[in-house]
Amino acid sequence: MQQFKRHQRLRKNQAIRDLLAETALTKKDLVMPVFIHEGLKKPKAIKSLPGIFQHGLSSLPKEIERIQNTGVTAVILFGIPKAKDQAGSSAYDPDGIIQQSIRLIKSKFPDMIVIADCCLCEYTSHGHCGIITDQGLDNDTTLYLLGKTAVTYALAGADIIAPSGMMDGMVTFIRENLDKQQFKNTLIMSYAVKYASSFYGPFRDAAGSGQFKGDRKHHQMNPTQIREAISEAEEDIRQGADILMVKPALVYLDIIKTLHDKFTTPLAAYQVSGEYAMVKAAAAAGLVDEQDIFLEQMIGFKRAGAGTIVSYAATEIAPII
Ligand code: PBG
Repeated sequence: MQQFKRHQRLRKNQAIRDLLAETALTKKDLVMPVFIHEGLKKPKAIKSLPGIFQHGLSSLPKEIERIQNTGVTAVILFGIPKAKDQAGSSAYDPDGIIQQSIRLIKSKFPDMIVIADCCLCEYTSHGHCGIITDQGLDNDTTLYLLGKTAVTYALAGADIIAPSGMMDGMVTFIRENLDKQQFKNTLIMSYAVKYASSFYGPFRDAAGSGQFKGDRKHHQMNPTQIREAISEAEEDIRQGADILMVKPALVYLDIIKTLHDKFTTPLAAYQVSGEYAMVKAAAAAGLVDEQDIFLEQMIGFKRAGAGTIVSYAATEIAPII
């Protein structure tokens, strides 16, 4: 008789499949993005991200309560200020929209992990991620402002600062500023490997940076690169990043896997706005079951090596995990 292995024994029924599962996804792996728009009186649906809303301070506690009730334990905050200027000064205003939001969340939900996205693009009138001069984006002046912004977030009570602007040196600048102000235990989750991606399209609408018409190819990474991703990760670890993030997630699974195998630093993956919107559109057209698709994608991120997943589908998926 011919010898062959009966793999199907491993898949006999759900209990056996669960017993042998190599990869687990839990509610506690998930991070829910929250958009807070200064002065907004009631939640406003974001057209490009079905099911996601911008909140004002008045509806924020209800939204956090909703998130907490799904079992999700962490949020990442994005702010849309009333006023923007060339220097993005509302980003580092101690009473800016994010600083107020952090204080509000922490006062009512002390156990909710609050991650503050740290970039100037939502706060500058031109929509760029930093200070613009005749020479273009001024990396080094921007670093100084990111350090300042991070300290105001930490002072408000943020658990984790997440620099997302891909400025060279951002982690070391933020770490130094936090340490100087006695925030030695505030974590840094660096968007270490962030590609210049068309998958961010719907976010620009959500974050009110629709006025921005350019691209970010001179500071975000070229999708062709793997070795450069390793260099970015190495450098951010050296500068003191506690967690590395890869973004987008789905078409960069190879990057997640590479960093997972090479480094011991905890890894996060960001399933970005375009990835979410595409699933929603396909589901609305009756082509796929959105929950099954989201679950399968999240398992894929975990299998590749991501411990943490940022996703607009976090609160939709958590109850069914
Ligand atoms: C920058 C930032 C962006 C996203 C997260 N942080 C926008 C950008 O780099 O253009 C995109 C997230 C998404 O598309 O879901 N503050």
